[in-house]
Amino acid sequence: MAYDSSVTQMRMPAGCPLGPWPESVCVRLDAFPCEPSALADLILSPGEGKHWRSMPGVEKRRREWLLGRCAAKEAVRALVDLPPKEIEIVADPYGRPQVRYCGAGVHACGGSPDPRVPSVSIAHSQGTAVALAVLGTDTRVGVDLESLTHRLEDFEAIAFSPDERSLLAAMQRDLRQEWALRMWCAKEAVGKALGRGLTAGLLAFHITRVDRASGTIEVALRDGALAQCPQLRGKSLHVYTARESDFVFSAIIYRHYRNGAVRMRPSRQEILNYLLQKMGELTEDWDYPDPVRAESKLFTELGFESLDAVVLCTAIQEHYQTPMPFAELLAEIGQQQRDLSIDELADFVNTHLGGPAGTGSATRRVQ
Ligand SMILES: CC(C)(COP(=O)(O)OP(=O)(O)OC[C@H]1O[C@@H](n2cnc3c(N)ncnc32)[C@H](O)[C@@H]1OP(=O)(O)O)[C@@H](O)C(=O)NCCC(=O)NCCS
Repeated sequence: MAYDSSVTQMRMPAGCPLGPWPESVCVRLDAFPCEPSALADLILSPGEGKHWRSMPGVEKRRREWLLGRCAAKEAVRALVDLPPKEIEIVADPYGRPQVRYCGAGVHACGGSPDPRVPSVSIAHSQGTAVALAVLGTDTRVGVDLESLTHRLEDFEAIAFSPDERSLLAAMQRDLRQEWALRMWCAKEAVGKALGRGLTAGLLAFHITRVDRASGTIEVALRDGALAQCPQLRGKSLHVYTARESDFVFSAIIYRHYRNGAVRMRPSRQEILNYLLQKMGELTEDWDYPDPVRAESKLFTELGFESLDAVVLCTAIQEHYQTPMPFAELLAEIGQQQRDLSIDELADFVNTHLGGPAGTGSATRRVQ
C-alpha cells in the first residue's frame, strides 16, 4: 500500500523570514492518508511502533502524535531520500523532536552531528499537523499551528503583557482574533526552537513588533527564556506567521553557532543599514558633498558605473550567502533606462532573502 500519493507543493511567499535557508521543507497534513494503524505499520520504525502502541492517554493524542510523525517524515524525506521507516523522530528529554536514521538509513549520515540530519519541529491542532525540517548543523527550528475555529474567548489577559496587548488594541476589531493567535503561535514557535517550549513562562517571550504586511512578528527573550538561551540576549527573533484557511501558522529558523553567534533573517531596516554601510565603504574616496542616504540613486546621484553596481551586488550576495537575481535586476533597469535607489535595492534584497522561486523554502501539503 502506498500512502504518499497526492502531494502538492506550495512555496513560502517571497520576503518571508524563513530565508536564507534554501533546504527547508514544511509539510501540512489535513487528514490521515490511510487508516491510522496501517499508517503506523507503513511509516514507523520498530522502536516508534512500540512507543505508539503503548502510548497512554486519549486516542486523540495517539492520533495527533502519529499524524505529526507522518508530516515530519514527509518533510525529512523531501530533503534526504530515505524510506520513512528509516527515519526516526525521537523526543529529547524536554520533548523536542530529533531526527536520527536507523536501519540501512544509518549510512546516510555516517556519524553525527551531520548536516544531512535535519532539525525538525512539529505542531498539531484540530486534526491537522504541520512539520518543518531544515538541513544544516546548528540550525534551530520552531513551528506552530492553531485553529481559528477553536474556543478562543479571552486568552489575551494571560498570554500577553500590557505592551503586547496594546499592539493588538491598535488593530481593527475584525483582525484582532487572528493576530492574537499569530502572536501566540509566534511565542510557541520560539519556545520550540529554543527546545524548552514555553516552560520559561508566557511573558518571557516578549513580542516587540508586529508587521502585518509581511506577517513577521519579532520576539525578544526575557527572564527565564534568556536564562535558557543567554546567547540570544539583545537579539530580535523574527517569526514568520501566516493565515491559511482556518489556521494560523508560525515558523522560525535560525542558526546557532557553537561560538555563541546567532544568524537570523535580517529585518528590512537591518538590510538597509548594511547597504548604507557597504556603500560608505565602497565610495569612501569619492568625495560626495552630501552623505549617502536611503533615497540616493546609484547612477545619477552617486556616480556608479555598471561595474561598480556589479561589485556592490556581489558583495551583497556574499554577505547574505544567498544567490539573488541581480543580473536580471540590472538588465531590467538598463532596459527601462531608470535608476535604482538604495531603498529600492533594500526592497529587492528583502524580497529575495525569502527564497527565490525554485530554491526557496517549500510547504508541501499532503491530502
Ligand atoms: C511544547 C509546547 C510549546 C507545545 O505546544 P502545544 O500547543 O501543547 O502543542 P503543539 O501541537 O503546538 O506542539 C506539540 C509538539 O511540540 C513538540 N515539542 C514538545 N516539547 C518540545 C520542546 N521542548 N521543544 C521543541 N518542541 C517540542 C513535540 O513535537 C510535540 O508534538 P509530539 O509530542 O506529538 O511530537 C508546550 O506544550 C509547552 O511549552 N509545554 C511545556 C510547558 C507547559 O506546559 N507550559 C504551559 C503552557 S500554557
